[in-house]
Formats: sequence, structure tokens, C-alpha cells
Amino acid sequence: MTATQEIEIIETDTKSSFAKISSCGLIGVNGYAVEIETDIAGGLPNFILVGLPDTAINESRERVRSAIRSSGLEFPSKKIVVNLAPADTKKAGPTYDLPIAIGILTCYEPEVINKTNLESLYVVGELGLSGKVRPINGVLSFVILAKKKGAKGIIIPKDNSLEASLIEEINIYPVSDLAEAINVINNLKNISPFKNTTLSDTKNINKLSIDFSDVKGQALAKRALEISAGGQHHVLMIGPPGSGKSMLAQRLTTILPPLAYEEKIETTQVYSAAGKLNKENSLVSLRPFRSPHHNISPAGLIGGGSIPQPGEISLAHNGILFLDEFTEFPKQVLDSLRQAIEAKEVTISRSRKSCTFPCDFTLIAACNPCPCGYFGDNIKKCKCNLNNIKKYQGKISGPIIDRIDLQIEVKRLNENEIMSTKSSENSESVKERVLKVRKIQLNRYKKLNIPSNSHLSSKEIKYFCKTDKNGELILREAIKTFSLTARSFDRVLKVARTIADLGNSDIIRDEHILEALQFRLNTFTNI
Ligand SMILES: Nc1ncnc2c1ncn2[C@@H]1O[C@H](COP(=O)(O)OP(=O)(O)O)[C@@H](O)[C@H]1O
Ligand SMILES: [Mg+2]
Ligand SMILES: [Zn+2]
Repeated sequence: MTATQEIEIIETDTKSSFAKISSCGLIGVNGYAVEIETDIAGGLPNFILVGLPDTAINESRERVRSAIRSSGLEFPSKKIVVNLAPADTKKAGPTYDLPIAIGILTCYEPEVINKTNLESLYVVGELGLSGKVRPINGVLSFVILAKKKGAKGIIIPKDNSLEASLIEEINIYPVSDLAEAINVINNLKNISPFKNTTLSDTKNINKLSIDFSDVKGQALAKRALEISAGGQHHVLMIGPPGSGKSMLAQRLTTILPPLAYEEKIETTQVYSAAGKLNKENSLVSLRPFRSPHHNISPAGLIGGGSIPQPGEISLAHNGILFLDEFTEFPKQVLDSLRQAIEAKEVTISRSRKSCTFPCDFTLIAACNPCPCGYFGDNIKKCKCNLNNIKKYQGKISGPIIDRIDLQIEVKRLNENEIMSTKSSENSESVKERVLKVRKIQLNRYKKLNIPSNSHLSSKEIKYFCKTDKNGELILREAIKTFSLTARSFDRVLKVARTIADLGNSDIIRDEHILEALQFRLNTFTNI
């Protein structure tokens, strides 16, 4: 468009033109529909943007203006009003640059953009000043939303293509700049949507070099991890430095089932919302293993921020959250963690809207038995006094420890174990058993739509965790002797259910309950 044409429009065009572009916003990990309404009318040139947080408005306006000009198009010298509806949610900024620019160009005459092609086409993307379309967070969720809304397609930034292609039966149009977006819209019929041909390859690059057989001895800890993997139970390992706690935790991933398709989508949605995907890691195909340091902020662990972002517990969704030096995490953080463990999701409240992130992780916690690390060790002498030990262990007693199903002591290896050349069972063979018990659970809980024993509610436990007579007697005794709370009682039964499943037993027998009880009581209680 030339300058003379522009003057012509200002002089002759007094009626206003209007455009509506479908776009998406993100609350938590879920996409919601945002309509971008653009109204351009004669009058003093102005560019008014409503529906974004104050700070984002100016930045977005500048990017849109420059991107349009850099793409060889004229930015209208008119009164432009852009409204992002619904207006009651303040939206995170850059996602809407591209649809705002498209909306402005759609109103422009002579027509730059074919208006009819835009119907039920979703558009998302950040613009650079040069007109380049930059990657954004949440694209996978946007594609899921567009599909649910019956869209005929969605235009997304090219660098977000791989995560988007997890979803089938929707046309995905990746673009690298504004000009390409315009071309896609105008020639929609002739452009073939994106198809990913490399997805199936991602399975093969995931071979890990660590294995269960690397760990010498530690039969009890390995058994606990197998039960954990089998029924998705939380684990606490207590032992002196160097006893192999971290080594064991890392190897848990090697005996877990591969991520199912649904799990891949759920976890990738979290990573996409958090902006943790990049060109190399464009979707999550391996079970997450997150090990945040204990000085992480509460928001970093649980989630938070003015535009809420998922924390480590959500990045561990469908995977493992390894909290080393568990006693060093601040009490406030452990309290929030306790709620998250219970709910398997976390809600972050903000004045306008609250949002929810999933966090169905298996917690593997590890700590020393005392401040110096050597309480109960048979080689090094503990230098702590009893009061300090009690105070130290008190940090994780009560409500939080009640929720950890499998509690074990990881003792230092003795000389025979260290010198041993006997090779122990490898991950693949342990994993076979894990896969078998997961299958048993999936079949049993088909109607409940839960994956494993640890997900059973109190009511469901009564139905699915029936014990034999001897088992019942032992349980009664345990409640009295160890003053089991109702909650720990439930958890013992759930662990016993997994142990029985590993033993291919429909009914939970006394031996299963005895083993489950052993994982609760032999730790901090014996000072
Ligand atoms: N059971 C074990 N079998 C083989 N190596 C072990 C074992 N336990 C510890 N190690 C060795 O000691 C190192 C430290 O173990 P680590 O897992 O970091 O201990 P922790 O976390 O309990 O302090 C490991 O990297 C490994 O080389
Ligand atoms: Mg360690
Ligand atoms: Zn000590």
C-alpha cells in the first residue's frame, strides 16, 4: 500500500470495519477461547488495546505495529480498538500479537486478508519487531482447545510444531513470520497442514545408561522401589551420606513403565505452559525425574507467580519428585507439599482467577538420620546429642511422614557387599514385574479410572483391599501397638495390596500385611 492510497482511505472511509479472530489463552495448563475483536474507524489515529495487563499492552502494541510495517504493509493511521474478550481475565501478553496483527489487517481495505478463510481458524503467536513469529508457551493446550471447539485449523509458531503434532485430527499450520501467516490464511485450500514424521523416533533416543544392577546390596531399598514402581507409592530413604540413596532414586525411572500417550500429553502440557520445551526437547516422552534443591522458593516448588506458573511438583507430573535432604526443606513448603500429595493437583489462587496444575508424582524423599549424618551407622560415630536428633527428625514427623507409604533405612554397605562381584538383577527384569502388576491394577480399576493402588480412596480401599483372617488380626494388633492413625492404616493396606499383586494374590494375606508394616515402622520411631 502506498502513501497516497493511505491518504485516500482517511479521506473517504468514515464507516468503521470490524474483525473477530479466534485465539486462545491459558489458565493453569488448560486453554480457553479468547476472541480478538478489532474495530477500525476514521478519526484521530490511535491504537487502543484492552484486555491485557497494563505492562503487556504497550509492548504488544509496539511489536504489532513494527511487525506489520516490517512485513511491507502499512499500519493504519486510524482509530484502532482491539478488545481481547472475555475482558474479565487479564491475559499473559505475547500469545496475542499475531492474532491482533491479523485482526488489524483483516479490517484494512483494500483487503489484505481473506476474511472468509479466517472463520473457525485459530491464531496464536508472538511477533518480533521484524515480523518474525516467535514460540510461545501453552501451544499444546491451544491445539487441544481448537480441536475441541471444532476449528478447521490453528496457526501456530513454527518452533512449537512438534508439541502441537501430538494432537491428531486437526489441521496445524506452523508459520515463521507474519507474511507466511497471511499467505497461509489466503491460500488455505492449497497449503498442506503440518504432519510430524519424526515422532516415533523419539522412543529410541531415550535409552538410559543407568541400571538397577549398578547398585550393590541394598535388597530392602530395591524391594521398596519395586513396590513403589508397582503401585506408585511414595518412598522415604534414611541413611548416612554415601549409602546410595541418590543412586537408588535415580534408578527408579529405569523400572517404571513408559509414558502412555495420555500421560505424554498431560506432562507435555505442563512443560509447554511452563515454557520448558525447546527445539531439542519439544515434547515430554520420558517420565520426568525432578530433583529440586532444598533452598528452592515455595513458588518454585509448588507453583506461583503473578501469572501462575507450574512448580517442580507439576513438572514431576506422571514421574518422580526426588527431594534430597528432605529435612532441610522449610516447614511451609512441606505443608504445601502435603496438600499436593493428597490432592494430586495444586491450585494457585490469584485475585481474579485461580488456576490448577496437575501434580500426580511419586515422591522419593531422602535424608540423613541426624544432623551429622551418622546416627545408627556401624562405622562412623554420631556426634549429635539426643535432643538434636529428635529435633532434626521432628521436622518431617507427623502429617508428612504419615503420607509416605514406604519408609526405609538405607545402611552403609559392609566390606563383603562392597567387594562382592555378584551381579544383581537388572532393571529390565524388575520392570517386567512392575509392568505385570500395573496391568493387574489397570484391569481391576477400569471402572474407577485410576491407574494404581496408591490412588484408591478410603471407601475404595474397603472394597478392593480385603484381607484374610490372620491379616485382620495383625492389623488390629498394629493399630494398638504402633498407634496407627486412620490415614496410615489406609496406606498400609494400599501397600499390602501392591505387595499381594506382586505375589499374584487376589486376597491380601498376613505376609503381605507384615511386609507393608515393616516399611512404616522401622525408621524414625526407634530412637
Ligand atoms: N549400593 C551401592 N552400590 C554401588 N555403589 C554405591 C552404592 N552405594 C553408594 N555407592 C557409590 O557411592 C556414591 C555415592 O552414593 P550416593 O547415592 O550419592 O549416596 P547418598 O545419596 O546416600 O549420599 C555413588 O555414586 C556410588 O558410586
Ligand atoms: Mg545423595
Ligand atoms: Zn549425628
